[in-house]
Amino acid sequence: MADPGYIDLHCHLLPAVDDGAKSVEESVAMARALAAAGFAAVAPSPHAWPENPSAAAIAEKREALARRLAAEGIALELHPNAENRLDPELFDRIERDDARPLGAGRYLLVEAPFDAPLPRLPELLFRLRVKGFTPIVAHPERCLEFAERPERAREAAEAGAALQAELGALLGRYGPKAKKLCERFLDEGLYAMAASDLHGPVGADRWLPEAILALRRRVGAEATGRLLAENPARALRGEDLVRPEAG
Ligand SMILES: [Fe+2]
Repeated sequence: MADPGYIDLHCHLLPAVDDGAKSVEESVAMARALAAAGFAAVAPSPHAWPENPSAAAIAEKREALARRLAAEGIALELHPNAENRLDPELFDRIERDDARPLGAGRYLLVEAPFDAPLPRLPELLFRLRVKGFTPIVAHPERCLEFAERPERAREAAEAGAALQAELGALLGRYGPKAKKLCERFLDEGLYAMAASDLHGPVGADRWLPEAILALRRRVGAEATGRLLAENPARALRGEDLVRPEAG
């Protein structure tokens, strides 16, 4: 039986807005799997790519999906969010007042490239802080910059960014290197939160609970609660996050 009350701050749940759910039916199936795994809330995070829908169109989709989930009897709250590339386009959007932050507006979910280095990472995270945002760095364990320079994770955390583990990495869904790096950053207490980054419904009812179990085995029940419930809730409300004891 899963713990209730988890909050997923990285999930491609909205239908037909990016490379996530292709239809409302897929969104509903994904929502069922998330709710069954113990999630009570999700902040769907469509890729904020220029070719994808506007913030206003996404807000409409989110509200429509919330109504559909309620009609289906699926207890899953939906909150505003987006997944932003750490690139010049993001800073242009911030200037245009189209930053697309999470929940209350303090935190901004960002991703580094999977297959290319990002030597300017510390500078980009700093610039976001200057703009008033606290970056949440999505799946560092899958990104080349962190794979080639694992010390980046501690630098980013110490600079005030929140690192977000991807649950599937713990099961080896992205290969052995990402799994090892995810375990290392977990053991070093560098992650502030964990999330599903769910893109589709296939197998989600099986792998989500497996991944949460793997997380609990690795870090224990208390840290699992911090990574999947307490810190995501604080981030949604725009509050400071709880850091693990220094070890
Ligand atoms: Fe994502």
